[in-house]
Amino acid sequence: MKRVFSGVQPTGNLHLGNYLGALKRFVAMQDDYECVYCIVDLHALTMPWDPDQLRDATREVAAGFMASGLDPERCIVFNQSQCPMHLRLQWILACLTPLGWLNRMTQFKEKAGKQKDNASLGLYGYPVLQAADIIGYHATHVPVGDDQRQHLELSRDIAGAFNHTFGLDFFPLPEAVILGEATRVMSLRDGRSKMSKSDESDYSRINLTDDRDAIALKIRKARTDSIMGVSYDPENRPEASNLVTIYASLAGVSRDAVLDEFQSARFSDFKARLADLAVEVLGPVGEEMKRLSADPGYVDSVLRDGAERARAIAEPIQKRVEELTGFLVP
Ligand code: TRP
Repeated sequence: MKRVFSGVQPTGNLHLGNYLGALKRFVAMQDDYECVYCIVDLHALTMPWDPDQLRDATREVAAGFMASGLDPERCIVFNQSQCPMHLRLQWILACLTPLGWLNRMTQFKEKAGKQKDNASLGLYGYPVLQAADIIGYHATHVPVGDDQRQHLELSRDIAGAFNHTFGLDFFPLPEAVILGEATRVMSLRDGRSKMSKSDESDYSRINLTDDRDAIALKIRKARTDSIMGVSYDPENRPEASNLVTIYASLAGVSRDAVLDEFQSARFSDFKARLADLAVEVLGPVGEEMKRLSADPGYVDSVLRDGAERARAIAEPIQKRVEELTGFLVP
């Protein structure tokens, strides 16, 4: 049996990078797999947070999934804090994880910065919670960005440690499905930095909530260069190349196909076509985001139902884990 699990941090301001790099691809998997998508609000506490923003961002990610085409009847979408397994399993796994394994994690080193003593225990244990997320559902496939490779390796090691400790093949070793560089979306203002929710210029990104006019305007205003024609050359033409990548992803075709199509076009004509395409694809997403943000009751009901279905999968697995662990249920 194949089961997909992935986690998304509830950070606000979903944008085109999140859509093309993650949401759209997660949603596409619903046709071939049983999919469980988790908004990891527990993980969000490993960095400073604001309670109201956390709540809003949790709803926004759920809305983003649905606006991108996720069918909440077929997939499970829920927020992590609402299924108790994650924290219960995390503890047992933490007690089987040597510190040496955690000390290798590069993401911890990056996020902790220079003052390691000020980093929280939660940040240190982040990858153990992530392992619990995944293996607690007996997930077999985990779509993630390239930056999560190391965490996925650790999840396999931890699953293996549990299996070895109890002498059975209880947890399947989860396989990373790396989403790849092809859809790395860069800023519309600077082709060398990633499109980001925290860039101070709103013109640097297309938000999932932007309406058609804003989408078209931002593409028209996107920075380009004075080189003629349409080509893909990230070294010398980072901004123009980024627009080629965006066109290819939005159209669902290869970069070469885009270059072929616009072989003899002027760049301004290419940009106009890109604006039309972006409006055609993202316009309805923005409208659905708007509709969903006006109906938080509906979004909450999807998350509530998702949590119930998540618990139904996780509970029997967790029960078996706790029996193996030796907990007495008097
Ligand atoms: N660490 C992941 C990220 O930052 C988020 C995450 C948490 C996750 N739990 C997960 C991803 C389980 C995949 C599976 O992107």
